[in-house]
Amino acid sequence: MRTVRAPATSANLGSGYDVFGLALETPADVVRVERAEETSISVTGVGSTYIPEDPKSNTVGAVAEALGVTAHIHIDKGVRPSSGLGSSAASAAGAALALNALYDLGHSRTELVSAAAEGEALVSGEAHADNVAPSLLGGFTVVTDDGITQVDASLSLVACLPEMVVSTRDAREVVPSSTSRAAVTETVGNAATLAVGMTRNDPDLVGRGMDDPVVTPARAALIDGYDDVRAAALDAGATGVTVSGAGPSLLAVCRASDQRAVADAMLETFDAAGVESRAYQTRIG
Ligand code: HSE
Repeated sequence: MRTVRAPATSANLGSGYDVFGLALETPADVVRVERAEETSISVTGVGSTYIPEDPKSNTVGAVAEALGVTAHIHIDKGVRPSSGLGSSAASAAGAALALNALYDLGHSRTELVSAAAEGEALVSGEAHADNVAPSLLGGFTVVTDDGITQVDASLSLVACLPEMVVSTRDAREVVPSSTSRAAVTETVGNAATLAVGMTRNDPDLVGRGMDDPVVTPARAALIDGYDDVRAAALDAGATGVTVSGAGPSLLAVCRASDQRAVADAMLETFDAAGVESRAYQTRIG
């Protein structure tokens, strides 16, 4: 038997759609695997009633198949499904790591990214790896078709999760299929600023680099209260705020000394909009 903890993640960070991601210290899924003749799955924890236990419909079933093994896989969910915090990716990454250890497959964490991404394909229709890569590797990750770059960045964060559901498939459908040259220039500049900021653990550069004129405005419209919550977090000291992954969570970057105030401002503003929420005061994991 093997048990691993797989962290939540936040993808995109505004300017890095399907490219940037980072691991969060909390929350996390715990995945336990045992040898078995056929793959079976059980799920407990946050939102577990919404998660299919049929291996053909569950991300971890796809991961076991990609690795060519069978097992009983138990997932204890700490990351709420459809939260924008890489819930399916945490389970997929945890299963990949645990199965790799259980069967002594000898894959590196980087090699496991593609197996874990097969689980993502089942959920969103595309095998994008911007959540599974940071869940497996930790830190800040840049995923492109040519490989993965990882940085052990260190920053304070608030991830605020409202009690609403946005499906990844729906959130991908609203992304514009074309944009202007000016928006491309702005996005490249912001993404470069953010990446440099991560190498310097600089919350101002990272926050500034999270601005995104293309994907985030389209997705913010799916989240009740987004504009007000973002403005409140910035007023409370956040250096940048954006949609976490496909939403509905918002991710704020801040200084450690502002973390409590930023979290309180986001919770209070969602509350004023009639939306319950919870805030994770966390760091890059
Ligand atoms: N990059 C993905 C998206 C992450 O934003 O759709 C969600 O799984």
